[in-house]
Amino acid sequence: MNAAKPKILVTREVFDDTLDYLREHCTVLDNQADVPYTPQTLAAALADCEGLVCALTDRVDAALLAAAPKLKAVANIAVGYNNIDVQACTARRVLATNTPGVLDDSTADLAWTLMLGTARRITEVERRIRAGEWTGWRLKQWLGVDVHHATLGIVGMGRIGQAIARRALGFEMNVLYHNRKRIAPELEARCNARYASLEELLAQSDFVVLQVPYSPQTHHLIGAAQIAKMKPGAILINSTRGGVVDDSALVEALKNGVIRGAGLDVFENEPKLNPGFLQLDNVVLAPHIGSSTEATRRAMAMLAARNLVAALGDAMPPNPINPEAHA
Ligand code: GLV
Repeated sequence: MNAAKPKILVTREVFDDTLDYLREHCTVLDNQADVPYTPQTLAAALADCEGLVCALTDRVDAALLAAAPKLKAVANIAVGYNNIDVQACTARRVLATNTPGVLDDSTADLAWTLMLGTARRITEVERRIRAGEWTGWRLKQWLGVDVHHATLGIVGMGRIGQAIARRALGFEMNVLYHNRKRIAPELEARCNARYASLEELLAQSDFVVLQVPYSPQTHHLIGAAQIAKMKPGAILINSTRGGVVDDSALVEALKNGVIRGAGLDVFENEPKLNPGFLQLDNVVLAPHIGSSTEATRRAMAMLAARNLVAALGDAMPPNPINPEAHA
């Protein structure tokens, strides 16, 4: 690293220990007030920076890179990096990094929270208690469905998909998965999971959990046609990225009872989600908190900081997305 500390921008509020670490190595323009940048204000702030720590709320595209001629590295505080135009970064020899690994278990826990919560209608019944509708015990009261011994279909069997599958062992579930490539036989055995085509998985599963990264190839992977192939009693969980599901099609399907319910942590156009979801009782909504435990968010922010400092120090960072951009 140069004797003079490189100037970097951190686009969102981070933990103090992350900032302290970054300040040891860099001159930091922070945003502890957490007022999100617009594309214009971000371009202006980044004009003379060599590094960027950003979040999935920041779009890093060719226009932004053109406005930041000194930029050498971009560290995303997220495992998903659909907010970054990686090709444009590589073309400008800007090294981009993400935060895989440290959030797998927390995100898998949240997918399970949504599965259990949707199956047992937990947000609906809580709303009913608060509204004074609980007047006493009844045998057929607010019946849910069992998660144990049901069939779980996981679409996207990377690290997080596998962590979701491993949790299903205790629930004695039958686990199917679909992925671009089959995972190694020893991983299939560890996850107790069988490879299936998307069609078979949709037709057989009581719970379909989406864990594929968002890309043009996975845009609206689940739309009206795919939902129609699911079991009428099935539950859809989206714990990955908005856009993998066609949310208007899902609202219609939930309204018309095509499937039983949905548990959603992510949405198209979040935070302005489709208002149709707010009218439905058979959907459990969460505000993109898959990785949001204190320990995991701390680990993600620190890993992003370490990635950036390594990249600016001309070392290969721990989690490069485009290692070919390394100078
Ligand atoms: C969160 O959504 C992430 O991609 O890390």
